Amino acid sequence: MGAPKHLLEIDGVSMLERVVRALRDSRAGRITVVLRIGDDPGRVLAEALGVPWALAAEPQRGRAASVRAGVEAAEGGAAGLLFALADQPYLLPSDFDSLIDAFASDPRGIVRATYAGEPGSPVLFARRFFAELLSLEPGQGGRVVAARHSESVRNVPLDPHRGRDLDRPEDLSDRSPTTGSAACSGSRDGYSPPSMERTLAIIKPDAVRASQTGAILEAIEASGLRLIALRMLRLSRREAEGFYTVHRAKPFFDSLVDFMTSGPVVVGCLEGEGAIAAYRELMGATDPAQAAEGTLRKRFATNIEQNACHGSDAPETAAVEIRYFFRDLDLVERD
Ligand code: CMP
Repeated sequence: MGAPKHLLEIDGVSMLERVVRALRDSRAGRITVVLRIGDDPGRVLAEALGVPWALAAEPQRGRAASVRAGVEAAEGGAAGLLFALADQPYLLPSDFDSLIDAFASDPRGIVRATYAGEPGSPVLFARRFFAELLSLEPGQGGRVVAARHSESVRNVPLDPHRGRDLDRPEDLSDRSPTTGSAACSGSRDGYSPPSMERTLAIIKPDAVRASQTGAILEAIEASGLRLIALRMLRLSRREAEGFYTVHRAKPFFDSLVDFMTSGPVVVGCLEGEGAIAAYRELMGATDPAQAAEGTLRKRFATNIEQNACHGSDAPETAAVEIRYFFRDLDLVERD
C-alpha cells in the first residue's frame, strides 16, 4: 500500500520527522519514537534524527502495545508522559508547550488536547497513571485511562486545523497553509485507523433507577464518543423480547425481559472512530465481577444481568439496534 503513513512527506519532510522536530523545539524532555515490529524505514529515520526508538512488542495487542512501549521507555524520573501521534504533522512546538504548561500547574493530572470541544491527541499523563497505562486490555489506548479519571483531566483547546490528523494518504493533498511541524513520542500503532462507526448504547433500568445516567453519559463523552441521539423510554414486554430475540433460548431470557421492562431506560446512538469496540471497552465485561477497573460495569453494575449498560457488538447488529429506537431523522449530524 505504498509508503507507511508516517513516512509520507509534506513539502519534502516526512510526517514522523515533522512531529519529532516540533517536539524537539518544544519544552518536552526525552523523546522516544515507538515503532511497529518490522518498521525498518521508521527505525532508520529515527536513528538519522538521533532519536531513541522502542518497539511495540506483541503487535496483536494493538494500541495497548504502543502505549506500553512508550511507558517503558519513559525516564525513571519523568513526571509525566506525552503521547503524540505521527499523523498530526501540523501541530506546532507551541501546541505541545500549551499542554506542558497546563501539566506543570497540576503535575498529578491528565492534560488532553481538544479541538472545537472534542477530545483528541496529544495527551499527557502524570506518572501516577503509568501502571494503568501498562495494564491496558488489548486494543485499548490511553483514552480509556483518561475516561476512567475524567475528574483529573484538564482540556487544552488547540486549533482544529493544526490538530487534524491525516488518516489517509489522500489527506496530504489537502494541505494547511500553515505548514508547521508536530508531535511524537509514542506513535499510533498501525496505519489503518478504525473507521467511523455508530453504535447503540442503552442505560439499563438499574442504572437509571440509581441516578447514574449522568455519570454514564459523562464517561461516554469523556471517552471521545459523540452522542448523536438520546431518549428515555420504558420498554414494553414485546419490545424487550424483540430487542433481545437472539437470547430467546437462553435460560436467563425471561428474567432479562423482566429486568429490562422494570423501569425506564435511556437509549442513545454514539458515533466515533471504531465506536463499537470503543464503547464495549468503556463498558467492560458483561459480568461486573470480570470487568476491568474503571469501566462502566465495574463502577455501576450489580450483577451479570443488572449490568447497567448495553452496547452493540458488531456493525450489523448496531445498524439493526439503532433502527429499533431511532429514525434516520433522529440521528443528528455533529460538528
Ligand atoms: P447485554 O450486553 O445487554 O446483552 C445481553 C444481556 O443479557 C446482558 O447484557 C445481560 O444483561 C444479560 N445476561 C447475559 N448473560 C447473562 C447470564 N448468564 N445471566 C443473566 N443475564 C445475563
